[in-house]
Amino acid sequence: MNVDALSFIEKYYGQGRPMNKLWERIDAEIGDSAFDPSAQEEILARTVMHPLAARYPGQSEYKQAFISGLMHRADTSGAPYSDTLCELSMLRPPGPDDDEFYSRFVFDEFTAAFKQSKTLSDIEAVVWPAGLVVGEWLASQRLDGLTVLELGSGTGVCSIIAAKAGATAIATDLALALSRIESNAEQNDVADRVQATALDWCVPREELDSLLATLPEPAIVLAADCVYAPDLCAPLATVLEMIAQRWSSRIIVASSKRREETQEMFAQELAARGFTVTALEKGKNAVILESYERDPVTLTELKL
Ligand SMILES: C[S@@+](CC[C@H](N)C(=O)[O-])C[C@H]1O[C@@H](n2cnc3c(N)ncnc32)[C@H](O)[C@@H]1O
Repeated sequence: MNVDALSFIEKYYGQGRPMNKLWERIDAEIGDSAFDPSAQEEILARTVMHPLAARYPGQSEYKQAFISGLMHRADTSGAPYSDTLCELSMLRPPGPDDDEFYSRFVFDEFTAAFKQSKTLSDIEAVVWPAGLVVGEWLASQRLDGLTVLELGSGTGVCSIIAAKAGATAIATDLALALSRIESNAEQNDVADRVQATALDWCVPREELDSLLATLPEPAIVLAADCVYAPDLCAPLATVLEMIAQRWSSRIIVASSKRREETQEMFAQELAARGFTVTALEKGKNAVILESYERDPVTLTELKL
């Protein structure tokens, strides 16, 4: 971005002046082009992330309004958010439990609450929109007495909702995620129906086979927002294939279309293993559940 403009933005923001002039300048700089992530980072470095901003914090409402304005400009220009803007979009007013907080989600029949981190890079400690879209689907199913197996469970979101809806759930993830799943299950009064188990998609096939052999046959297998890293596409597809070969469970996969290439790569891994993919209808609250994700969640069922 233009050096003069950046310097204006830095000074103007630092003084906490009314924002209309600030936006005029920023909008003039962006023009009709996409408000690309590098420009967002440049602006954030001069404002919210300025080295002095932590020492001399301005009004948090001002900061939040500014971040919302930047997101709005990225949205209308069709550009993705920069990493810092993604992280800041989770910003909440400061409080004693700011790093960790509960989100409460109301489904038709019940409420579920999940302790999560505001740091998006703690991916296993955030409730992702795809998890909630699956959760809403689960809440609309008859699950009494059924077993549900969840892959990449994170906060335990889908397993806990399944348990609330009457199922017994096996919530799996990397070992580091298990204690949070257990405490979230406890908070939601379903600890007796949610079993947190380590299941790493990347271990050798024989190890996965032995682990799957210890589990009861699930009626439903879930993977919500597990398609996000290129190097995990093949291992995850292999686990799903092993599950589909072993059992006749329904397999439900929900993904946010953050990076088109990763989704495409996963689709190819599934096709290579002979899976067919059918879209399922999302529940009526999907818009709310997905509201902090600009790319819609796809809810699908896989069959071999
Ligand atoms: C984006 S989060 C989704 C969490 C949750 N399903 C949701 O929708 O909120 C992806 C999850 O996959 C898990 N994961 C990443 N690599 C994994 C692996 N190799 N084996 C098992 N789980 C993995 C992460 O720990 C994380 O909990």
